[in-house]
Amino acid sequence: MEKDLERFSKLHAILDEINVAVNAWQNHLCLKHGSFLYNQYRQLLRDSKKLGPELRGNTFVEIKVIVICKQENRLMSEPNIAILWGSETGTAQSLAEKTELTLSAQGFQAKEMDMSDVKVENLTSYQTILVITSTWGDGDPPSNAMDLLGELQARTINLNMQTFSVCALGDTAYYQFCKCGKDFDEALATQGANRLVPIKECDIDYDAPYEQWLENVIQALKAKETSTV
Ligand SMILES: Cc1cc2nc3c(=O)[nH]c(=O)nc-3n(C[C@H](O)[C@H](O)[C@H](O)COP(=O)(O)O)c2cc1C
Repeated sequence: MEKDLERFSKLHAILDEINVAVNAWQNHLCLKHGSFLYNQYRQLLRDSKKLGPELRGNTFVEIKVIVICKQENRLMSEPNIAILWGSETGTAQSLAEKTELTLSAQGFQAKEMDMSDVKVENLTSYQTILVITSTWGDGDPPSNAMDLLGELQARTINLNMQTFSVCALGDTAYYQFCKCGKDFDEALATQGANRLVPIKECDIDYDAPYEQWLENVIQALKAKETSTV
């Protein structure tokens, strides 16, 4: 009985820890409601409430806690990836959404974001910054990217701990081909961020170069993960 009580309180201490971790993730917008891990966590809480006190410390629940803790550790050690998109007519936005889905399916914590919702000082919250942006006018940023690019160029922030890569959409018919993507590439490097993979400049047939860029990004993220384990 005493042993059971000990196991029970241990279990609850672990649950409390997970709870804190989940809240922290949500605060950083890294753990999405409805994600696999979040659903597992909710299910565990429900299961644990359904069981009588004498059964709560049973092996079944304990194993589930261990599985979740392992996943938690794995996810915590993975990079937090911000996918920032600058888009006028939706192409870069849809590629950013596709990038989030692909990276999430590979087990990375990735989130696409409209650049107009991003503050320069918040970039340090992410380990990796991916930029997918088009160019408009005569080498101008899309309207939702103007402020962020301007701030990145004007201010000094320390992005030494961040890696980044840019996928630039454009059209070689324009003199200033992929200028906005090139500007982001330069601005992020100037702030000290390290290139994960080189910028990919995409012409109007962007599918193949985009896929190539994404593949390179995934390989580089995996290599980075292996080197930090
Ligand atoms: C009015 C207009 C201006 C453009 N200016 C440029 C430019 O200066 N440089 C460039 O490389 N591409 C330019 N483009 C091409 C766009 O960047 C390209 O079509 C891109 O895929 C659009 O992506 P979005 O839908 O995410 O904005 C321009 C396109 C339009 C319609």
